Parts: sequence; C-alpha cells; structure tokens
Amino acid sequence: MATLSILWVIGAYVLTFSKLADCATWAEWWTYDRTSLSGPENWGKVNAEWSICLKGNKQSPINIRTKDLLYDPNLRRFHVSRHRVNASMQNNGHFVHITIDSSSKHLVNISGGPLQYHYHVSDIVIHFGETNSEGSEHSIDGRFHSGEIQIIGWNSDIYSNATEALGSSNGLAVIALLMKVAEPINIEFDVISNFFSRVKYKGQKEHIRGLSIAELLPASSEFMTYEGSLTYPGCQETVTWIIPNQPFHVSQKDLDFLRELKIGTSDKVIQPMVNNIRPVNPLNHRTVRTNINFRNVSSGCTMEATTFYEVNF
Ligand SMILES: *[C@@H]1O[C@H](CO)[C@@H](O)[C@H](O)[C@H]1NC(C)=O
Ligand SMILES: *[C@@H]1O[C@H](CO)[C@@H](O)[C@H](O)[C@H]1NC(C)=O
Ligand SMILES: *[C@@H]1O[C@H](CO)[C@@H](O)[C@H](O)[C@H]1NC(C)=O
Ligand SMILES: *[C@@H]1O[C@H](CO)[C@@H](O)[C@H](O)[C@H]1NC(C)=O
Repeated sequence: MATLSILWVIGAYVLTFSKLADCATWAEWWTYDRTSLSGPENWGKVNAEWSICLKGNKQSPINIRTKDLLYDPNLRRFHVSRHRVNASMQNNGHFVHITIDSSSKHLVNISGGPLQYHYHVSDIVIHFGETNSEGSEHSIDGRFHSGEIQIIGWNSDIYSNATEALGSSNGLAVIALLMKVAEPINIEFDVISNFFSRVKYKGQKEHIRGLSIAELLPASSEFMTYEGSLTYPGCQETVTWIIPNQPFHVSQKDLDFLRELKIGTSDKVIQPMVNNIRPVNPLNHRTVRTNINFRNVSSGCTMEATTFYEVNF
C-alpha cells in the first residue's frame, strides 16, 4: 500500500512536470494547418489563456463587404512617422516577423485616422499564399490578395510597454497592407525581400538597417477601419485595424522568395510556410468605417464604382 502511494506521488510529479513543459512550448505549439489539432479552429480550445480565440465576438481577420462600408466624415488622415529604424527579421515558424529595435534613435509612431493616441510601431508580420490568389488574411467582397503585411503599434500615450498594451483597451493599432503583384513595385519591400533567403528556416534571424516603414504604405490616404483582434494567439481584442484602400505592389520575384520559407528548422523534413492565414471571422454587427466619401463621385452612387481594389482571381 505504501509502495503504491509513493508510486502515485511520483506519478503526480511526472504529470506536473510534463504540464509545465507543455506550458513552455505553448508559443511554439500552434499552427495554421486547418486540418490539424493545432490549427486555428482549436487555438481557443486547447489553451485556456487563448479562449478568446474561440469565444471572442470581435475577432480578426474579417471579410469586408464594400457595400456595407460606412462613410465617417470624422475620420482624419492617418500618419506614420518617416524615420528610418533598425530592425531584425526572424522566421518564427509561423510567419516572417520583423521586430523594430527599441533602441533606434527615433521610434516610429502611427497616429491620426481613427486613432485617439500615438502608437509605437514594434513589430511587422508578413502573411502570404501558395498561389497569387490567396495569402491575405482580410478579404474584400470574399476575395483574397497574394499576401498581407501587418504593421503593429502599441499605445505609448497610455501604456508603458507593448505587453501591457496588448491586453488593454485601445492597446494596439495595426495597419494591414494587402499585397498584389503589379507595377510599379514597392521599392522598400523589394529591399526587404533580399533578406528572406537568410531566414529560410525557423529560428533564423537577420538584421535590417535603416528600414522605412512609411515607404511601405501606398500613396492613397483612403482607408477602412474597424475594431478587432490579433489574428494569432492570444487573439486579444484590443486592435484598431486600418486597411488602406489600395493594395501595395510587389514583384513576382519578391513573392517567390517568400514561398521558399519553411516552418521548421533546417535539420527536419519540413513544410513550406505558405498560407499562414487565419480564416475570416464573423463581423457580428461591427461597423467597418471609411474616409472614402462616396457621395462625391460623379459617376454614380454605387460603392463598387469607387473602390480601388482589383482582387486577384
Ligand atoms: C542602426 O545601427 C547602426 C549601428 O549598427 C547605428 O550606427 C545607427 O545609428 C542605427 N540607426 C538607427 C536609426 O538607430
Ligand atoms: C510619438 O508618440 C509619443 C507619445 O507616445 C510622442 O511623445 C512623440 O513625440 C511622437 N513622436 C513623433 C515623431 O511623432
Ligand atoms: C510592462 O509594464 C507593466 C506595468 O507598468 C509592468 O508590470 C511589466 O513588468 C512591464 N513588462 C515588461 C516586459 O517590461
Ligand atoms: C465632398 O462633398 C462634401 C459635401 O457633401 C464637400 O464638403 C467636400 O468638399 C467634397 N469633397 C470633394 C473632394 O469634392
């Protein structure tokens, strides 16, 4: 009997340890594989800290129906400061993750538009598809672009660091740039794309000097905005999304470089990173606002006639 209870105690310890080990790897564990237990449908089921991925009613990405856009005359232009920053690019096994050096001389702010505060840009995330007709997380009238770059800033007026902002109201602002193969290409992205081959495998990291985030933005000052969440775990519903009303142009070569990336380390048999996209979530009565004043268009009153989007098929 005594032996049995000692064994039982040892068993309990082993269990505790393996649970701890699991916790340590949570950040690694999830995938974009829709057929897998680790896929988007299950992010909120397996880890209690991510339950909002499943239960949340303000989740992202969404499909934007252009006929439901609401013109808001109070929306101003949004601004991204033009300073160049140093950064590092990493393959984290999920997406291309660019982290802005917090020691850079000048930090880049996002402000204006729908935002009441200044947001320090801290991270850039790149999603992309296997073919040119998939790869963006947000869709427009049910159609997808070839990729999506998300420029993430945290509210530095109210909060003291990104971690605190992430879980707090009005914590984050994310600019989503939808990618399209077209001329003229975005030069800044073309420069960044030279680094993709150096982060082909998970864990690889490369420094980027003198990155201009403002140069990534399309020339148009028109945008759409809504309240949502991060599109990866923990799916915190603290994000004001800003989606410029013009895709950003890349070359086929830039996209092909991205498609070489793998989700594993170099010593394993590994899958490509392509289609690292969370499926769209229901809008749930949220409003998507825009500063595009459709009433000014002389050609008629339909919104379709005025949108700049040409989505890949
Ligand atoms: C980037 O790093 C280099 C040194 O590695 C430094 O000389 C330069 O001032 C940094 N640039 C910014 C914008 O911080
Ligand atoms: C960025 O925002 C902070 C407030 O969080 C402000 O103090 C600073 O002046 C802003 N910098 C620029 C370049 O706009
Ligand atoms: C972020 O700020 C909070 C609140 O000020 C603090 O408790 C926490 O330690 C900070 N975290 C980091 C990573 O600096
Ligand atoms: C759009 O129409 C509003 C009035 O409806 C007017 O005040 C504004 O100047 C117009 N904008 C342009 C660019 O024509």
